[in-house]
Amino acid sequence: MFELKNKKIAFFGAVGYLATPIIWKMAESGADLLLADFNLDRAVKIAQEMSDKYPEQKFEAVYVDGGDYASIDACFKKIKDTFGKLDVMVSGISAANNMTVEEFTPETMNKTFAVHLTGSFLLARNAADLMPDGGSIVIFSSMYGQVAPDPSVYHAPMKPNPIDYGIAKAGLNQMIRYLAVHWGPKNIRVNGVSPGPFPNPANYTGSMDFIERLEQKVPMGRVGKQHEMAGAVIYLASDESSFTNGHIINVDGGWTAW
Ligand SMILES: NC(=O)c1ccc[n+]([C@@H]2O[C@H](COP(=O)([O-])OP(=O)(O)OC[C@H]3O[C@@H](n4cnc5c(N)ncnc54)[C@H](O)[C@@H]3O)[C@@H](O)[C@H]2O)c1
Repeated sequence: MFELKNKKIAFFGAVGYLATPIIWKMAESGADLLLADFNLDRAVKIAQEMSDKYPEQKFEAVYVDGGDYASIDACFKKIKDTFGKLDVMVSGISAANNMTVEEFTPETMNKTFAVHLTGSFLLARNAADLMPDGGSIVIFSSMYGQVAPDPSVYHAPMKPNPIDYGIAKAGLNQMIRYLAVHWGPKNIRVNGVSPGPFPNPANYTGSMDFIERLEQKVPMGRVGKQHEMAGAVIYLASDESSFTNGHIINVDGGWTAW
């Protein structure tokens, strides 16, 4: 795995389903980590476990709400006090309303954008301010930022993956390209990862029909496994990707290829 020794990494949405194996790989690869999440209890617990396992490295947990910009400011104050600077910022924060096109109100739509778009923008800009020697910013996008959900996958009463989510992820894709150009001269690289279907088994305890319909949409005939996002994120965080900028890596088994 790629070397992250002594890298100062802030990970937002650090303790979710896809992020958890990534932060552990980062710790194993020698990074110092600040774990920021809604779920402070879990972040504190993991930071403690990491400190016990890797006592030479620094691990901190902090609360953040991507839609509460004061909490973002407080978080970056903590990062500055803890690390002084940043080498890598990863954001896996997310938001969506489980609504059909007809059900959306201006308020529910804007609430999603306030987190996904404005929140992510503020995370990136604050991170760049702490990268005087350059750095790497990695944003989680989605296959649904590139293609629309196939309605045949979502059988009633299930609703299709909501439109606010797809619009927001498409917006993030453009933000990645814009900021990659804007900060390229400062050697701050901005890239994305675009997961395909990675259903969290904890959310699907009943019928597996939905998972089977997802599998049929993937050229590889299966959904992603929890650990399979780690390689792309760690590559982008490491110096091995030093000339990769403005790129979004699909990790989707080929979902967006046909
Ligand atoms: N799992 C998938 O199938 C899939 C597919 C495509 C894209 N993605 C994207 O990958 C990322 C991770 O997805 P996941 O499945 O691990 O989700 P998850 O819900 O398991 O993890 C998200 C983590 O981020 C935290 N979080 C979410 N929004 C936040 C906010 N506004 N402020 C602070 N913390 C916040 C949550 O507490 C959680 O720990 C998300 O950006 C998601 O949109 C996931």
